[in-house]
Amino acid sequence: VRTVDNSAATVNPAAAAAIHPILAARFSPRRFDPTRALDEESIATLVEAFRWAPSAGNSQPWGLFPARRGEPEHRRIVAHLAPSSARWAPDAAVLFVTAAHRQVEDTDLLYSEFADYDLGQAVAHLTLQAQALGLASHQFRAFDLDALARELRPRPGWHIVSMIAVGHAVEEEPQQRERRSAADVSAAPWT
Ligand SMILES: Cc1cc2nc3c(=O)[nH]c(=O)nc-3n(C[C@H](O)[C@H](O)[C@H](O)COP(=O)(O)O)c2cc1C
Repeated sequence: VRTVDNSAATVNPAAAAAIHPILAARFSPRRFDPTRALDEESIATLVEAFRWAPSAGNSQPWGLFPARRGEPEHRRIVAHLAPSSARWAPDAAVLFVTAAHRQVEDTDLLYSEFADYDLGQAVAHLTLQAQALGLASHQFRAFDLDALARELRPRPGWHIVSMIAVGHAVEEEPQQRERRSAADVSAAPWT
């Protein structure tokens, strides 16, 4: 298999002219190299990028469950993937389950109304750090949330939100990637 140096801006040349190559080259691959692992230093760097993200009032309402391919944690997670993600996600070197701290423990009080917003931003930082390391990432929600929650038993107030597959992308046919226009982004929300 040919893996891709995912930090190179080869994916989206139109955007590459205007935005940073790390942003332009990022895409969510549907194939990961099942033979390549991530060294512990790279995994630690991804977690560093995640935890240094900004958050409302520096509340840091985020958490990760890292699972390296081949380890027991990985098998616990893979068991709950939906058929669609089970086709590609287990090949990634690492799967991260993400969690948001929404409520104060054992109350209905919000810990942070921005918990999911802040988690998403921390995930964005992790994905761009992956890109900078020449790795690829693919976020996904195609898993059995209730079953995974029974498996990982998040603490009260914490909620599983998504997963991130990180590893070495295998070269695949370039996909047609589409986005709404800049004009629409600025116009659509407003009356
Ligand atoms: C919160 C979230 C959930 C997603 N869920 C899935 C999923 O279940 N399966 C999947 O293949 N991709 C999933 N994706 C990836 C998106 O489909 C992808 O980011 C989008 O199509 C844009 O493509 P790109 O990342 O290559 O730019 C998800 C992405 C996010 C941010």
